[in-house]
Amino acid sequence: MSVLVTGGAGYIGSHTCVELLKNGLDMIIVDNYVNSSPEAVRRVEEISGKKIKTYDCDIRDTEKLDKIFSENSVDAVIHFAGLKSVGESCSQPLRYYDNNIGGTISLLNAMTKAGCKKIVFSSSATVYGMNNISPLKEDMQVGGTTNPYGTTKLYIEKILQDIYAADNSWSICLLRYFNPIGAHKSGRIGENPRDIPNNLMPYISQVAVGKLKCLHVYGDDYDTPDGTGVRDYIHVVDLAVGHVKAYQHILEKTGVDIYNLGTGHGVSVLQLINAFEKVNGIKINYVIDGRRLGDIATCYSDASKAERELGWKAERGIEEMCEDTWRWQKNNPNGF
Ligand code: NAD
Ligand code: UD1
Repeated sequence: MSVLVTGGAGYIGSHTCVELLKNGLDMIIVDNYVNSSPEAVRRVEEISGKKIKTYDCDIRDTEKLDKIFSENSVDAVIHFAGLKSVGESCSQPLRYYDNNIGGTISLLNAMTKAGCKKIVFSSSATVYGMNNISPLKEDMQVGGTTNPYGTTKLYIEKILQDIYAADNSWSICLLRYFNPIGAHKSGRIGENPRDIPNNLMPYISQVAVGKLKCLHVYGDDYDTPDGTGVRDYIHVVDLAVGHVKAYQHILEKTGVDIYNLGTGHGVSVLQLINAFEKVNGIKINYVIDGRRLGDIATCYSDASKAERELGWKAERGIEEMCEDTWRWQKNNPNGF
């Protein structure tokens, strides 16, 4: 039996594939490389010493998915494939709704036809909206997303819950990621933004490598210990391990289970910059700027449910996240 990994060539997907293979699990990748490169898969093969069966396929192509399911014995799907840029989703909302929601519906149709009813879905802390107070818990009210990207995550969570309500032989795991950063220890795979990064860590590392001149810190007047935004940064390898646990979990039971994948600790923008500078011995040029529209002061998880029910806990600290990001960035200044 194989796990079908959609979006397996992407940042989180590629790290998850490494962990699946490390655990002796068979897997296949489905990706159309809209935001990734086949080279990432080649490097996963290099790290794991195993060959991966890969399909160049848009998940909106249900017929092609039908064929993939008929050619392989798939027991579960880990579903990463989606577009993820907040800014782009505001200027191209239809593209986001079509790709993320349309793509998921197509995938779910193909799964239903193939009798495969187990899925792990990449959701986001963004579904908690602006009004919940951290630490965020899975049973808090979701909604109030502020951009189409976030809304696609909210709607897909709802679609999956409705599918289970209609047919309770499904087994569904919704993983709400906090802020994944870092890279595999080998420095061979990592995050590879195509344009100027929106997210903090890739921006820091591109300033460090000299691709960007200066980091803009969006606001130092928040109600946080040093005035800058606080987030729950999680090492991408910890996140990847969380997917192996979630996969094992859905094999054993039916239902819809929701888990935060975070560390449970908040780190401010200035703390992250300081950690990066200290661990890597590099100065990061930055200026304090105004607040970014749509940002909240503080966002971190209560990650105790995943520990209790999945036996998973983030193990890697902020220094390791900074060190591993920098190894990847300096060895691959232009990505893959
Ligand atoms: P990524 O862009 O690196 O990976 C997504 C992969 O999906 C890419 O390889 C892309 O080519 C593929 N893809 C997109 N649309 C596709 C389609 N229609 N058909 C086939 N393949 C398609 O992003 P990532 O950071 O690895 O994120 C993976 C998932 O996790 C996404 O769903 C994202 O929204 C979610 N997520 C990411 C973060 C984060 O900070 N990185 C946070 C929360 C949730
Ligand atoms: C952002 C998205 C969120 C998405 C998440 C992961 C917004 C409003 N939210 O969250 O929907 O799920 O990425 O992809 O875009 N910062 C700077 N300078 C920068 C970049 C960021 O100071 O150049 C600050 C931000 O103000 C924030 C912190 O760094 O306080 C983290 O920002 P970021 O990495 O973009 O993540 P989120 O805002 O948590």
